[in-house]
Amino acid sequence: MTAEHYNISNEEYHLIKNLVYDRFGIDLGSKKQSLVTGRLQKILNTGGFKTFEAYYHFILEDQSGQALSTLVDRISTNHTFFFRENEHFEFLRTEILPELKARLSKTGDQSLRIWSAGCSSGEEPYTLAIVLREFFGLDFSNWDIRILATDISANVLKKAQDGVYPKEALQTLDGRLINKYFISDQDDNFQARASLKDFILFRRLNLMREDYPFRQKFHLILCRNVMIYFDQPTREVLTEKFHRYLRPDSYLFIGHAESLGRGNPYFKYIKPAIYYRTDQE
Ligand SMILES: C[S@@+](CC[C@H](N)C(=O)[O-])C[C@H]1O[C@@H](n2cnc3c(N)ncnc32)[C@H](O)[C@@H]1O
Repeated sequence: MTAEHYNISNEEYHLIKNLVYDRFGIDLGSKKQSLVTGRLQKILNTGGFKTFEAYYHFILEDQSGQALSTLVDRISTNHTFFFRENEHFEFLRTEILPELKARLSKTGDQSLRIWSAGCSSGEEPYTLAIVLREFFGLDFSNWDIRILATDISANVLKKAQDGVYPKEALQTLDGRLINKYFISDQDDNFQARASLKDFILFRRLNLMREDYPFRQKFHLILCRNVMIYFDQPTREVLTEKFHRYLRPDSYLFIGHAESLGRGNPYFKYIKPAIYYRTDQE
């Protein structure tokens, strides 16, 4: 049986666009009509919906939230890779970690909390885990280090949690790190070792929530290539929230194509895509 092709009307596009904006902050704008049509074809076909409007009402009526979850899985852009925007990891290794290690050692509180917000399929938190393992070396076990990795998409989170990547996904990693932190199988898939997985906690979380369910604040938050899909008011609200969940003297990384603006009241600009929370609580 050949799959049916569904066209979306302007009204239907607006319904879906507004729903995605209200629930997830993702601003599809006015020009993503064909992208949305393409990405949702399969759902309409397999779900037996006659029109996009029928699909829209189905999502609204679905109390389980599963339909909404499937929608965002299809709509969100999940592109990512290991050591993406490597300047961040260099800055972490050469500036932030030495400074934090010295500062925290003095206080006797050897715990370090990092949040990868919008972690997609896990390459970002696993990269962080590698950098941390490499930096602390044998001293790692004397520290209480945790990475929280969250995303709205259940689909990519499952991949992140599995931590299994095809060989091509590891091309930005050098051979020594691959051997040290991954185990390969006969199909040339590479599984992240427990030495990385054990200190990453993966959770589904919508950044649009009013509050986040975190007990501890972070020394570093990475929210890279996520806000690019949000409009300016949404970015501002989110930036204020990141400020709330960061400790004093902590850091925020955003994507290199993104900016908080140099006059941002919550953060001091350090260098492109790197900000510092200086104020006290
Ligand atoms: C392009 S990926 C970025 C991945 C990684 N941070 C990087 O820079 O490579 C953007 C991610 O943001 C997630 N995302 C979009 N809207 C979100 C929301 N409202 N709450 C949580 N995550 C969201 C998407 O599901 C997607 O996995």
